Amino acid sequence: MQLYVKNSSIITLPKIKDNRDGNLIIANSLKEIPFEIKRVYYINQLENSVSVRGKHAHKECEQVIFCINGSFLLGLDDGTTQQKILMNQDNVGVLLGKMLWHTMEDFSPGCVLLVLASDYYDESDYIRDYEEFIKLSAKT
Ligand code: TYD
Repeated sequence: MQLYVKNSSIITLPKIKDNRDGNLIIANSLKEIPFEIKRVYYINQLENSVSVRGKHAHKECEQVIFCINGSFLLGLDDGTTQQKILMNQDNVGVLLGKMLWHTMEDFSPGCVLLVLASDYYDESDYIRDYEEFIKLSAKT
């Protein structure tokens, strides 16, 4: 998988599969995750497959998003280039850097999203208006 948008990259976490049951997947702050993790949140019980989440960008906060169960479609837009990524690998995440408009949709049954963030929740860091995002991204 290759990313064409700015301020994003693929992050692959080590996965331990030994002779016991299950997988063990590890994310270290400032190692695989390129920032100090201040906040973790997850999204589950996605019962409406036509819903669209996200639809915003962040001015400063950086995040890494994972699909730890099932699948969904991640939409990325850096203001110039758009890309859709099928998220269906439990140890492969996408860095959502600054000023990257993102959407999440097409959730499979049982889909669970996990997000690691560089900052605490702050609504003033959000850009929720697409026109404003395009204007601001043209300046950066
Ligand atoms: P939002 O970030 O818009 O969700 P998504 O990107 O998944 O569509 O957040 C939805 C609501 O939850 C919004 O009212 C803000 C609130 N919220 C918090 O209070 N703290 C948080 O850490 C997050 C991520 C959201």
